[in-house]
Amino acid sequence: MSASSFAYKQAKYRYVRNYADGKWSKGRLSEDARLVLNESACVFQYAQACFEGLKAYRNKEGRILTFRPDLNAQRMKDSCERMVMPIIPVDEFIEAVDETVLANEEILPDCADGSSLYIRPFMIGSSPTLGVGPSEEFEFRIFVSPVGAYFAKETKSLSLKISDFDRAAPKGTGQIKAGINYGMSLYPLMIAHEEGYDENLYLDPQNHNYVEETGGANIFFVDEYERIIVPKSDSILPSITRRSLIELSRDFLGYEVIERKVSISEISSFKECGLCGTAAVIAPVGSIDDHGKVCIFDTSEDHYGKTCKKIRETLIKIQHGEMKGPDGWVHVIR
Ligand code: PLP
Ligand code: COI
Repeated sequence: MSASSFAYKQAKYRYVRNYADGKWSKGRLSEDARLVLNESACVFQYAQACFEGLKAYRNKEGRILTFRPDLNAQRMKDSCERMVMPIIPVDEFIEAVDETVLANEEILPDCADGSSLYIRPFMIGSSPTLGVGPSEEFEFRIFVSPVGAYFAKETKSLSLKISDFDRAAPKGTGQIKAGINYGMSLYPLMIAHEEGYDENLYLDPQNHNYVEETGGANIFFVDEYERIIVPKSDSILPSITRRSLIELSRDFLGYEVIERKVSISEISSFKECGLCGTAAVIAPVGSIDDHGKVCIFDTSEDHYGKTCKKIRETLIKIQHGEMKGPDGWVHVIR
């Protein structure tokens, strides 16, 4: 079985766990994809929600793997703390993911053609709330969907637009996976698409001077000395893919990696550019349009730059269990 696009396809089972009276219930699998909530539930009125995203891969040997799910669990904890939501311990998060994947094994694609099972854990404030304040009850769910490439133009490089909007505020919620960050990005995304771009590239919300990330992925560059340059900021989501590519580029492929603030005025000096994320994997960026000043990047190797392609291939081999990565990166479900 394979999947060709990144779209929701309803699976048979999802994991459901409820929080009330200060404690979590036992989690269970459910065949009901619907949620019935009061009209005044905190999630509807005040957007008390956060989520995660990871993938399960079925490889050539029939093994079922996830990639660094402990980091998703940790990031979900960070998101919950910032959104005043109860946490799910790391080991319980991983067990719940494993249980949901195995229950839906029938629809788990083979990873050979780039398909995978996307896993979406999320939590919402579910009790009625009128005055601004956190919910008292919460629901944690995990659903899955077979997916292919995130960007429809899978076989082409992406064109980005420097946005005049912000996806995060200084000291806001840019560094966690809160639904509100994505809600804010819908309008600028619609405009970017209408103008023919694939995505927005946001600048730092304080001064609009430094490169941050796109609506759904981190960004990195390769300079003329083949050094990997990764933007640093407190309002960027700490991407698990980015943290992994930094480590593998440095320790496996021998590149120098520099994490630092990247000014918008210097991007024209870079040779290659890529997006990284669970959904995006590593996607090639062909151009960035900064208000009419267009920077073009090398895409000469099947729409990728040479270095981006090498990093992508290495990362995918590790994720699929075809190459040994650092200890603990690949989690074997079965
Ligand atoms: N940045 C944003 C805004 C995202 O939504 C995502 C997706 O999770 C990422 C970056 C990439 O993070 P990760 O590699 O952990 O999936
Ligand atoms: C992911 O990569 O898992 C995300 O959550 C990004 C989202 C835009 C699909």
